[in-house]
Amino acid sequence: MSEFPVTRLRRLRMKEALRGMVRENFLRKEDLIYPLFVVPGKKVRNEVKSMPGVFQLSIDETVRECVEVRKLGIPSIILFGIPEHKDDVGSGAYDEHGIVQEAVRAIKKEVSELVVITDVCLCEYTSHGHCGIVKGNEIVNDASIELLAKEALTHAQAGADIIAPSDMFDGRVQLIRETLDDNGFDNLPIMSYAAKYASGFYGPFRDAAQSTPQFGDRRSHQMDPANSDEALREVEQDILEGADIVMVKPALSYLDVIRRVKDTFHMPTAAYNVSGEYAMIKAAGRNGWIDEERVMMETLVSMKRAGADLILTYFAKDVAKKL
Ligand code: PBG
Repeated sequence: MSEFPVTRLRRLRMKEALRGMVRENFLRKEDLIYPLFVVPGKKVRNEVKSMPGVFQLSIDETVRECVEVRKLGIPSIILFGIPEHKDDVGSGAYDEHGIVQEAVRAIKKEVSELVVITDVCLCEYTSHGHCGIVKGNEIVNDASIELLAKEALTHAQAGADIIAPSDMFDGRVQLIRETLDDNGFDNLPIMSYAAKYASGFYGPFRDAAQSTPQFGDRRSHQMDPANSDEALREVEQDILEGADIVMVKPALSYLDVIRRVKDTFHMPTAAYNVSGEYAMIKAAGRNGWIDEERVMMETLVSMKRAGADLILTYFAKDVAKKL
């Protein structure tokens, strides 16, 4: 490398046009996945207190939202359901007329081109708020994944375009893959929450999805924030079991993990810009402490720079309007 004054890195920063020519990473509308929370009822639009601009929506309102999302050029949404009734085995999750299953049917009827992803987990559907079946103090693995596979199949039958298991139990991708294949859905992709950490950044989501565990926490299945070699083992395992897209979650405190996953596996890689990351930017923005729009764009492009191909974000509509 030559030395100053021959080298002046500032030369290419002097004009916006020049900066644009040498820019390395971009956000595209095609990268965005917009999360939606579906609740029972009609004409329901409840704003989530800790997530300004995010609403719990009834199915009719969800469909309207999807029409708008599509018009903005966002290709995809991910659905979370809050059922009428919860019980200890999360029956609402694998009911063929459950809230997400009915929402998928309604959306596909109105906006068939939209890529509808469904989150597969039990935590929104169980009375105890855990992601699977609980026996004593243990969140049971093998019996729970049977239910997740049933849930995935009902989503597929309703018309979902991608299945996204978010539970972090062992072997769930394989069982879901087998169940889908056995029922003629061998072309339906799986986006696995492959490296999902036990994170404090999910707080606002649990308000939105009413899925806070009534006792204990998720540390026996979600990953320890201190680990990243283990993340590679989690991702590798999901790929071997049949995952088509792998996700790292949360995103912002785990950019190093996104980079390692991308460099190691060269898979389509998604980053989940989670509820707490959204809430922090919104709160500081509302207080006038940061420039919300600028920090939003900076945060999201950092995920692309880290290697993410896709970003699940509550900012999707705001970003699409800016692009
Ligand atoms: C579980 C699930 C969670 C999120 C997505 N899927 C919460 C959890 O694991 O407790 C969090 C998303 C966010 O914080 O935005 N079904």
